[in-house]
Amino acid sequence: MTHILHRQIGQSYPVAVGGHGAMLRDAAGNEYIDASGGAAVSCLGHSHPDVLSAMHQQLDRLAYAHTSFFTTEVAEELADDLIRHAPAGIGHVFFVSGGSEAIEAALKLARQYFVERGEPQRRHVIARRQSYHGITLGALAVGGREWQRKAFEPLLIETHHVSPVYEYRDRRADESAQAYGERLARELEGKIAELGGDTVIAFVAETVVGATMGAVPAVPGYFKRVRDICDRHGVLLILDEVMCGMGRTGTLHACEQEDISPDLMAIAKGFGGGYAPIGALLIREKIFEAVAQGSGAFQHSHTYMGHPLACAAALAVQRIVRRDRLLENVRTQGACLARRLNERFGNHPFVGDVRGRGLFQGIELVADRGTKAPFDPALKINARVKREAMARGLMIYPTGGTVDGARGDHVLLAPPYIVDAPLVDTVVERLGDAIDAATADSA
Ligand SMILES: Cc1ncc(COP(=O)(O)O)c(C=O)c1O
Repeated sequence: MTHILHRQIGQSYPVAVGGHGAMLRDAAGNEYIDASGGAAVSCLGHSHPDVLSAMHQQLDRLAYAHTSFFTTEVAEELADDLIRHAPAGIGHVFFVSGGSEAIEAALKLARQYFVERGEPQRRHVIARRQSYHGITLGALAVGGREWQRKAFEPLLIETHHVSPVYEYRDRRADESAQAYGERLARELEGKIAELGGDTVIAFVAETVVGATMGAVPAVPGYFKRVRDICDRHGVLLILDEVMCGMGRTGTLHACEQEDISPDLMAIAKGFGGGYAPIGALLIREKIFEAVAQGSGAFQHSHTYMGHPLACAAALAVQRIVRRDRLLENVRTQGACLARRLNERFGNHPFVGDVRGRGLFQGIELVADRGTKAPFDPALKINARVKREAMARGLMIYPTGGTVDGARGDHVLLAPPYIVDAPLVDTVVERLGDAIDAATADSA
């Protein structure tokens, strides 16, 4: 009997005992290809010797020093490294221990920025439906996953939600991608106007939507319009690249492909690659300066922020990604994965859409390709696919609620940046078998 309150009470989980490269091994000796990096975390795969060595060295030097007393060399080096490669205008970082903490910090720093500037009336946050920004109360409030918010609604800060970019379902047949993006941008501008332009703090969005919809990028031009609208109304643009950032889509930051730079950006997951819990908030200089010249301190902190061991892990991960030119591999193998997925599922009766960027690919499962009708949620197709995949030694990240928070199923793939073409082939082959088995009684 376990004493852990596991994610699903009553479910028995295999015991992970080892990992190497893209493989994980359980106590029963089963091996799994980690084709989702857990939840888009393990970007270098498991047990990378150079990351372990950097962590061992840091551990031998110093495991922990509280940030109200000290800074550390490794944290300073990591901050320098991040800023050297950050989007334009970003000049400082705030370290945290994960994605939700990074979003909480973003929301509070955004609010404090306006308080420092003498605009305390700014109180509204706008985000998008069908998004996930984390599980703590602030992050949950801005997130747009209805079933997850429902029970906690009375505790959540007021937020406002606009439509996500969801081309597969929401672009009208007579509308170009450009026109669709423009319609969504106008919706955002309408929401800002409705609330009163000078009362809005920020617009929060995942650059490429991950867990809730399955690797859904924006249409061309959308984020440029969003940037422009935010600027016009003095609203901060907070990008959530916790899942899609740090190389996952083929560029270090997903926003590079949108040709925009955010005011605040949350990163985590692929930043530390799962070797230690770490996340960060990247901060535009004007925001840092407002606090520096105002109260002089961000009114926010955590005991473990800038943890030296976590910083050593993240620094090693980032150096290896550059040293081994892994972003090139993400682009090459990402294209290979997309191609193979389209070959395997392009005419599959229960796959409606294949989408994504780099090694961040999603497929949407449907009961009917023609009408795009989703499966009955009671069938729990996404859970079945996960079970069938695990039985075939494949880790993927399927989720339900794709369409509207209740209906719809998708599978998210986020393999490590070190994959090669034969491994990609095996992933697609096993995934195809898993989906066929999970949908066998619907055929
Ligand atoms: C886009 C996004 N933001 C925030 C989070 C929250 O991160 P964490 O689980 O590390 O708190 C996640 C986690 O999946 C995420 O995908």
